[in-house]
Amino acid sequence: MERDIEKILLTQEQIQNRIRELGEILTAEYADKNPVIVGVLKGVVVFYADMVRQIQVPCQMDFMWLSSYGGVNSTGKMVVRQDVTADIAGRHVLILEDIYDTGNSLTYTVAHLKAKNPASLKICTLLDKPERRKPGVTLKADYVGFTIPNAFVVGYGLDYNEQYRNLPFIGILKPEVYEK
Ligand code: PRP
Repeated sequence: MERDIEKILLTQEQIQNRIRELGEILTAEYADKNPVIVGVLKGVVVFYADMVRQIQVPCQMDFMWLSSYGGVNSTGKMVVRQDVTADIAGRHVLILEDIYDTGNSLTYTVAHLKAKNPASLKICTLLDKPERRKPGVTLKADYVGFTIPNAFVVGYGLDYNEQYRNLPFIGILKPEVYEK
């Protein structure tokens, strides 16, 4: 896998240090709120596992699994494959995402969860790639791990063709891998 990586963008140490910093902020924010922490599958799994262990408050873990219609050239229409199982009405909800890219996923997730009337709804994304945002998407992530350039990143949960998710760092994929 490593030989397909052009450059390491974020090392394990950089990621873990930032997660500890975010953890302190989120621990203070959610003290006494018993939040429902919702991960958006599948890319989030690695970040989720590390992040929740740094949010040192009582909380409930939940997940949503989305997919978009029509593959890569889709219009951004999403379908819920698996909804949250908790009743989040009146609850404080924190969405965890691995990457905020075009905004299709978060826009849909926020609208979907807001309709369930949570007491509050915030977003924490490990990566933010603002250059890729679709026109008209104005949503702001409340907590961002790293703002990154418009490069094809994999690892630490992020995939290309379902591969590379288990790399422990975030790397930039060599163009010849996705251009072939
Ligand atoms: C990826 C990623 C985010 C979403 C971000 O998920 O995990 O959920 O794309 O991109 P967007 O801002 O353009 O919507 P993907 O749909 O590739 O599925 P995965 O989580 O299973 O990798």
